[in-house]
Amino acid sequence: MGCTVGRLHVTVPAIVEGMSVLQACDLHKRYARGDTEVTAVAGVSLTLERGAFVALVGPSGCGKSTLLHLCGAMDRPTAGEVRLDGRSLADLDDDALTRVRRTRIGFVFQTFNLLPTLTVGENVGLPLLLAGRDPREVTTRVGEWAERVGISHRLDHVPAQLSGGEAQRTAIARAVVHDPVLLLADEPTGNLDSANGRRIVELVHDVNRSSGAAVLLVTHDPTVAAAAALVLEMRDGRLVAAADAKPDPDGARGASSETASDAVPSEAAPTVRGGIAEAASVTERPAS
Ligand SMILES: Nc1ncnc2c1ncn2[C@@H]1O[C@H](COP(=O)(O)OP(=O)(O)O)[C@@H](O)[C@H]1O
Ligand SMILES: [Mg+2]
Repeated sequence: MGCTVGRLHVTVPAIVEGMSVLQACDLHKRYARGDTEVTAVAGVSLTLERGAFVALVGPSGCGKSTLLHLCGAMDRPTAGEVRLDGRSLADLDDDALTRVRRTRIGFVFQTFNLLPTLTVGENVGLPLLLAGRDPREVTTRVGEWAERVGISHRLDHVPAQLSGGEAQRTAIARAVVHDPVLLLADEPTGNLDSANGRRIVELVHDVNRSSGAAVLLVTHDPTVAAAAALVLEMRDGRLVAAADAKPDPDGARGASSETASDAVPSEAAPTVRGGIAEAASVTERPAS
């Protein structure tokens, strides 16, 4: 259980034992560029369990967004396989992939990507309406999430009337309103000042803890990355390093274990921010 980064084996213990949410197996993505080819992702393997909170850092152009798109069924790999809840996405046609995206995955983007002609409330409720949910249930869920992210007073506004922080909080509500198992965020604080950025990270953290959704978050910002249990670094299309987030002063965060079965039960770390979702370890494997 965990992921292999070169010779490093990374363990991200689960809140709930069970199937991995995401398994990326030796993913490659190549793009044609004129007569040449660009390799955006060059053999990435990564496993996220339920409750994992992983930050992905690396220089511009190293393939972070491409990897996120592959993990989120927005694009298909040139080689390798993505499994969501144990099910291979390779077997699915485009309609089925769309259903997976709409029901199992939430996305947050740097540029918010709200639909400009819809109100805030309509933007948040869209995933539920697309899934054919009862309109009364949609209204209830939208109200709950608007309250939770602090945009209740903006429900009837259109995105152009929002501040950056409000727009991103709206985008987070939209990303999680349908209870995704996997939340993917691509530089979600990149267009925000630090106070609003902190609020976004806290919201992502809150969703991670309360729902157990696995989070994979791309960021340039070390303070954002520090919120994650585990920071993975990408270079030239590969994962090259992994580091635990800094341990808590009380030492419970970043608990180390080779396997999930060694993991501290979640009850054992009730005072730790994020509980066991934050526990992660990196051990070195002998070269094989
Ligand atoms: N749709 C595309 N067509 C061609 N090249 C692409 C496409 N998307 C990304 N790339 C290239 O793949 C590489 C990785 O891009 P990207 O995943 O966006 O990196 P990052 O998010 O780390 O900045 C870059 O060289 C980029 O130019
Ligand atoms: Mg990017």
